[in-house]
Amino acid sequence: MHQRAIDRFNLHDRVIWVVGGAGLLGSAVCRALAEHGANVIVSDLRSDDAMKLAESIRADGMKAVAKTLDAADEPSIIECCRQVVDDHNRLDACVNMTFRYTKTAWIEMTTAEWEHGMRVSLTGAFLVGREAAKAMLPNGRGSIVHFSSMYGVVSPDPAMYPPHITPNPIDYGVAKAGVLQMVRYHAVAMAKQGVRVNAIIPGPFPYPWSQQKDDEFMNRLAAKVPMGRVGNADEIAGAVVYLCSDAASFVTGTQIAIDGGWTAW
Ligand SMILES: NC(=O)c1ccc[n+]([C@@H]2O[C@H](COP(=O)([O-])OP(=O)(O)OC[C@H]3O[C@@H](n4cnc5c(N)ncnc54)[C@H](O)[C@@H]3O)[C@@H](O)[C@H]2O)c1
Repeated sequence: MHQRAIDRFNLHDRVIWVVGGAGLLGSAVCRALAEHGANVIVSDLRSDDAMKLAESIRADGMKAVAKTLDAADEPSIIECCRQVVDDHNRLDACVNMTFRYTKTAWIEMTTAEWEHGMRVSLTGAFLVGREAAKAMLPNGRGSIVHFSSMYGVVSPDPAMYPPHITPNPIDYGVAKAGVLQMVRYHAVAMAKQGVRVNAIIPGPFPYPWSQQKDDEFMNRLAAKVPMGRVGNADEIAGAVVYLCSDAASFVTGTQIAIDGGWTAW
């Protein structure tokens, strides 16, 4: 039977696990998924913020719960995914948004800093994806969305940074590039089993506090964007809703850049 185009975006009662969901972009994503009817599990290292976000979504009459998780810790990821499946009997979609950010210049970066960055941003993504896939494969359906970055595609331009700001760190971009290849690998590996895997590539979405703090850098950042401005958190959510929904039923192994054109030149 023909499904109306608008109904294909419906996420009514879909169980969606959002890892790193209490942050700037995660809050917008969790809210948007809930607004489309999903039952959202906000998972984050920052339990209080995850709880507050889930409460505020519920206060608006939608479905969300919070679960603490440390993406640097394998047992924590396994346990969190197990609880989600135990509580809801299935997992329909998973959005992975965690990362670790150092402020160290690449030439001074220690092995421990490099490895910790990789541990959260790349190994964490692998483990979240692996556990989500294990939960989805027996049902023959599911959608996994990993957050990469424009710095997984292009390098930061050192000339853009004033002396008091360290360029975006090397471990971050290398991990985010790895996430893109992992997405292709997982997508192909599970393509015939109904589990789709895709990536979001955000451009610059600075925190509101950093926008207020550093006018000069913000102007330079905006000037690098072909659209001439940075992104608002709400502008990221539509693509995540799409990828989690049946509207994207033939979409796997791909990337959606939401970057005002940053990676287009
Ligand atoms: N904001 C941007 O400009 C931008 C640009 C490119 C890519 N991204 C990507 O988008 C995603 C979301 O970024 P954001 O801007 O919302 O950042 P954010 O810092 O606001 O959110 C990240 C969330 O991950 C959580 N987190 C960090 N380490 C964790 C761990 N070990 N275990 C569990 N949770 C952990 C944090 O508590 C936080 O809530 C990230 O993957 C980031 O790399 C953001």
